[in-house]
Amino acid sequence: MKNHTFFAGIDIGSLSSEALILKDNRILSYSIMNTGAYPERIAKDCMDQALKKGGLNINQVSCIVATGYGRISVGFADKQITEITCHARGAHYLFPGTRTVIDIGGQDSKVITTDENGFVTDFVMNDKCSAGTGRFLEVMARVLEIEVNEMGTRSMRAKAGVQISSMCTVFAESEVISLIADGKDPDEILKGIHDSISKRVFGMAKRLRVRDEITFTGGVAKNKGIVYSLSSLFKRKINIPTEPQIVGALGAALCAREMFIKGKL
Ligand SMILES: Nc1ncnc2c1ncn2[C@@H]1O[C@H](COP(=O)(O)OP(=O)(O)OP(=O)(O)O)[C@@H](O)[C@H]1O
Ligand SMILES: [Mg+2]
Repeated sequence: MKNHTFFAGIDIGSLSSEALILKDNRILSYSIMNTGAYPERIAKDCMDQALKKGGLNINQVSCIVATGYGRISVGFADKQITEITCHARGAHYLFPGTRTVIDIGGQDSKVITTDENGFVTDFVMNDKCSAGTGRFLEVMARVLEIEVNEMGTRSMRAKAGVQISSMCTVFAESEVISLIADGKDPDEILKGIHDSISKRVFGMAKRLRVRDEITFTGGVAKNKGIVYSLSSLFKRKINIPTEPQIVGALGAALCAREMFIKGKL
C-alpha cells in the first residue's frame, strides 16, 4: 500500500537534471546533476539521490511527472509534461504573484505569461539558436578562461559594457576573441555579453503582454550580471528563487500531486 503523501518531479534538461520530492505540498528533498550523454541513467541517479535525501524509496512515491527536453527518457515516470507548464507552476508556487516567467537554461530561453493560478496563458521561445541561452555563456566563459559561476560578479565590476554586435554564437565568439586581442577589459566584455543575451530575451518578451511579477528560473538566473541587465531592461525588480534550477522539477512534482489528487492517474 502506497503512502499517498509523496510526489516527485524530474526535469531532464540539456545541461542539468533535477529530481524533487514533495511531502504533501512542501519540498522534502531535491538533487541536481549534470545531464551528460546518458539521460536514462542520470534520471535514475538523480531520482535515487533525491529519494535518499528524503529517506524514501520509490515505492513510497504516489506519482512521478517528468519534464524537460529529455523527459521521454524517464521510463519510470507516470506522465510527461512540457517545461512551459512546469516552470509556470513551479514559479507560481515560489512567488504566488508571478504573472511572467523567464526561463533561461542551457539550450532554451523562454518567456511565459500565466494567470493568477499559475496556468500558462502564452509563451515565446528562442528559435533553435543558442545566442540567448546558457550555452552562449558557456562558450564565452571558455574564451575568457573564467568559470561560468564567476561571470556575474566579474561583469558587475565593469562600469560599461563593450558592444557585442554579432547575434550568432559562433560569430560572437570570434568577436570576443578579437576584443581580447585588442586589449579590452574582460569585465567590460562580460558585461557586453550579458547585455546582449538580456536584450535578446527582452526582445522576445515584447511579443507577449508582460505583467508583474516577473520570476526568473533556470541556471542562468544564478548569474547576477544577467539578473541586473534584465531588471534594467524590464525596469523592475525580478524574483529570483533560492535555487533557480529546481523550478521545473518543482512544477512537475506539483502537477504530479494535483493529477493524483484529482484522480487523473
Ligand atoms: N552557479 C552558476 N552561476 C552562474 N550560471 C550558472 C550556474 N550554474 C549554471 N549556470 C548557467 O545555467 C545554464 C544551465 O541552465 P539549466 O541548468 O537551467 O539548463 P537546462 O535546464 O539543462 O537547459 P534547457 O532547459 O535549455 O534544456 C548554464 O549554461 C550556465 O550558463
Ligand atoms: Mg531547463
